[in-house]
Amino acid sequence: MIHSAVLNVMIKAAHRAGRSLKRDLGEVENLQVSVKGPRNFVTAADRRAEAIVHEELAKARPDYGFLGEEGGAHEGADKSHRWIVDPLDGTTNFLHGIPHFAVSIALERNGAIVAGLIYNPANDDMFIAERGKGAFLNDKRIRVASRQRLADAVVACGLPHYGRGDLTLARYEIAAAQQHYAGLRRYGAAALDLAWIAAGRLDAYWERDLSPWDMAAGMILVREAGGFVSDLDGKDDIFAKKQIVAGNDTMHKELLRLLKEAAKSAAKEMSKEAVTP
Ligand code: IPD
Ligand code: CA
Ligand code: CA
Repeated sequence: MIHSAVLNVMIKAAHRAGRSLKRDLGEVENLQVSVKGPRNFVTAADRRAEAIVHEELAKARPDYGFLGEEGGAHEGADKSHRWIVDPLDGTTNFLHGIPHFAVSIALERNGAIVAGLIYNPANDDMFIAERGKGAFLNDKRIRVASRQRLADAVVACGLPHYGRGDLTLARYEIAAAQQHYAGLRRYGAAALDLAWIAAGRLDAYWERDLSPWDMAAGMILVREAGGFVSDLDGKDDIFAKKQIVAGNDTMHKELLRLLKEAAKSAAKEMSKEAVTP
């Protein structure tokens, strides 16, 4: 398949960073048995991967801005273009030697995402999309699943972890999902959750407290695969609200409805707790 110039640049960067991460994953496996564990090594692996992506992208497009999870924001001379990069999405998985993590690269033009790539170096899954040109997995066209019945759907979510997020709200949301869906999953790499929605492997997905680099590439992948993404109010304020809901038209709408009901029930419980002495 012939890719556009910009996708070629993104693919090259992802492959190079991916090779570095794959090498480092081998070392992580060795370090599991050491007393110190692999945490410091993983921090270095993460930074190494971002430096590689940054270097490759800057070589090809020196004027573009850059927003990376590790290195933060760099303004470019070209104010209309910005790369949004997570060099290692799924750090906790990586740290534990679980081969479910990804390099995520998106290109934003005048505030809109116009290209996205998500690459899992562990199994070589390469998801790419460009605005108006469709979404692809290893150069094969992908579409969101067409399932319509919630009882048939497999849905992914993020869970607030140690010291983060609203646990009461999460409890209500998970209970609602358990009551309606065939299966609920928590894979631990937001970018891959979105890529898997685009590929029709998952039917719906939601998560709160995410950052632009977790979602940017996945958003265009889902849209180009015929799916829908929004914040939890059904609007396009995804980056500002730091939350996302994705799926085909029906699954997206139904999940928004379930989450709204869950939020109401959680709020009721919280207000009861507030008045109980
Ligand atoms: C995390 C993963 C995870 C999500 C977290 C993210 P990181 O990104 O995407 O699935 O639940 O909220 O921060 O830290 O592994 O790049
Ligand atoms: Ca991430
Ligand atoms: Ca990361």
